[in-house]
Amino acid sequence: MENSQFLSRCSADTIRFAAQSLSDGNLVAFPTETVYGLGADATNAEAVARIYKAKGRPADHPLIVHIHSMQAIEPWVSEVPAYAISLARDFWPGPMTLIMKRSDLAKDFITGGQDSVGVRVPNHPIALALLQASYNLGVMGVAAPSANRFGNVSPTTVEAVQIELASFLHESDQILDGGQSTIGLESTIVDCTSAFPKILRPGAVTIEMIQASTGFVDLEDGEVSTPRVSGALEKHYAPQARVILDQIPIGGQGYLATSNFVTPEGVTRLASPKNNKEFARDLYIALRKADELGLTSVVIQQPIGDGIAIAIRDRVLRASNGR
Ligand code: TXA
Ligand code: MG
Repeated sequence: MENSQFLSRCSADTIRFAAQSLSDGNLVAFPTETVYGLGADATNAEAVARIYKAKGRPADHPLIVHIHSMQAIEPWVSEVPAYAISLARDFWPGPMTLIMKRSDLAKDFITGGQDSVGVRVPNHPIALALLQASYNLGVMGVAAPSANRFGNVSPTTVEAVQIELASFLHESDQILDGGQSTIGLESTIVDCTSAFPKILRPGAVTIEMIQASTGFVDLEDGEVSTPRVSGALEKHYAPQARVILDQIPIGGQGYLATSNFVTPEGVTRLASPKNNKEFARDLYIALRKADELGLTSVVIQQPIGDGIAIAIRDRVLRASNGR
């Protein structure tokens, strides 16, 4: 495989080496249960600047700080509402990012100049080991956006990270291989800066789960976002292929739908998930496969219902607004 000098199978040694590398100011792409992230020491302005450069991302877009445990949020935030503690207890480690009032440690180069900071404890053994090991070396948190070029589909395999970023990394940077992300969609983002939680990006921690955890039932359904969430930009989560929703595909097109839909003649079936969980896991892989095969358009049959289906529809809608 090309550019495989960055690639490391994950042994304890590899993780120690990657932690040291982060603390030295290098970039480390690492697996999480949602999507792969491109990490840097969140207190190191130069290292964080390199994330923006590698991604080609506008500088005023805030980054999520990843930490190994709930206790490690303390230095990053100045105010934690009771409902946020409840969310953290119920869903961390897991696919949820909490936005809270920032402390002085969370500088403008992390928050995009806002007075809030996003934090997450991911649920992936390699991510947690890396975060713990780098914390032991004095790295208080690891800033990590999804490890893709700006506007592209998030990577859920190490091969996808290589395709996206290998040519933008330096020799001292690393990509850790943790297999395919089990969830496959970016974390749920919950704004915890006001009296009640607001969902800024839907994900695998669903509105029902947030309602049950916090006791707040009157929440927006998360399909509304503020402009500060980069996913809210039109051209986002999009493959090169045109994404068309809820039509019957014709010959030459790609097709993604649950397994109860048949594949018409001449159509390339990209995935046949049996349920919405599998749909989420397969979505970005299917979109990447469409580009690899050089397909010019992909039809997606949107899943119906609540739960993670809301997050899937959110992402495919953005992909269909695409390029
Ligand atoms: O699952 C995930 O969240 C992945 C993995 C790597 O953890 N990360 C991820 O990061 O999706 P990114 O940067 O691609 O998307 C994070 C989103 C951005 O759209 C950003 O605008 C928003 O979170 N965000 C971060 N901090 C924020 C803040 N203080 N206020 C509002 N939005 C914020
Ligand atoms: Mg992203």
